[in-house]
Amino acid sequence: MARIKIALIGGGQIGGNLALLAAQKELGDIIIFDIPKAEGMVKGKALDLMQLRPHDGYDTNIIGTSNWDDLKNTDVFIITAGIPRKPGMNREDLLEINLGIMKDVATNIKQQAPNAFVIVISNPLDAMVYAFYKVSRFPKNKVVGMAGALDSTRFRTFIAMETGYSVQDVTCMVLGGHGDTMVPISRLATIGGVPVTDLISPNRLKEIENRTRVAGGEIVKLFGNGSAFYAPAQSAIEMAEAFIRDKKRVIPCASLCEGEFGINGYFIGVPSVIGSGGVENILEFSLTDKEKSELNHTLEAVKKTVAETGL
Ligand code: APR
Repeated sequence: MARIKIALIGGGQIGGNLALLAAQKELGDIIIFDIPKAEGMVKGKALDLMQLRPHDGYDTNIIGTSNWDDLKNTDVFIITAGIPRKPGMNREDLLEINLGIMKDVATNIKQQAPNAFVIVISNPLDAMVYAFYKVSRFPKNKVVGMAGALDSTRFRTFIAMETGYSVQDVTCMVLGGHGDTMVPISRLATIGGVPVTDLISPNRLKEIENRTRVAGGEIVKLFGNGSAFYAPAQSAIEMAEAFIRDKKRVIPCASLCEGEFGINGYFIGVPSVIGSGGVENILEFSLTDKEKSELNHTLEAVKKTVAETGL
């Protein structure tokens, strides 16, 4: 069987790490795509990664290009094309520039690989994934945004740091938009099956939820230039792997809701089943009144940014 073809649209900080992780997991052959001005950079990254392969013996091909024709019949795209945040910016401040880029990317992907599975990472995420969907007219199961996977991993990290217990045993989910209104569901967070609400005081839990909501901004401030890339890359790779290996993973993702959780026509973070069919299902569950109202609040924020796309 021919190897899966994975294209990373944007070969910057996240793109480079996506390439490394995809290669190490032998997910398929990798194409790092960027604008002509950055072609040398992505060709260099590809060559550097090719030279890393003998250490672990992974047989994947990695190339860098700025030519869309090289992306014909690609199976999986992960899009990070765009600009990242600078300190003081929120994700919505990136809309104008990144929307233009996303429209161009969606048009080209549709032309080169109309049957691909597409994971969007570019921010503001909820609007960018919506824009990709609208411009490409791909089926809804083939388009998904990476946000909840990362927000949940941040929530898990902070819970593990607070308790000192293994991060491996912490499970939790963050729903809603990929912004400060996101909804960490503490009620369902557990450590080895034990509810965190029995292990962490309500006040501390609230502080952890708040830190989760602005966790990306905390890193932007520390960097001074650019935003997080290691954890975002790994989060997207888990989603890509779930698709490629038909794992039926349940991951909070920005999926198109058509009635689920009372949401209609918007991509927003909800527990999504990812397998070879793409987003195969959205798992609905009962929310408390407080969670419902928080989800409505985050939906309003998503609607506002989506409206600004004019799509
Ligand atoms: N096509 C392809 N690549 C593009 C295009 C385009 N039209 N426009 C810009 N790029 C490339 C840039 O040249 C750059 O190499 O996208 C890459 C972005 O990389 P970085 O600037 O390093 O940004 P990164 O940290 O990877 O974040 C990318 O993901 O999390 C979001 O907010 C973040 O929107 C940002 C995106």
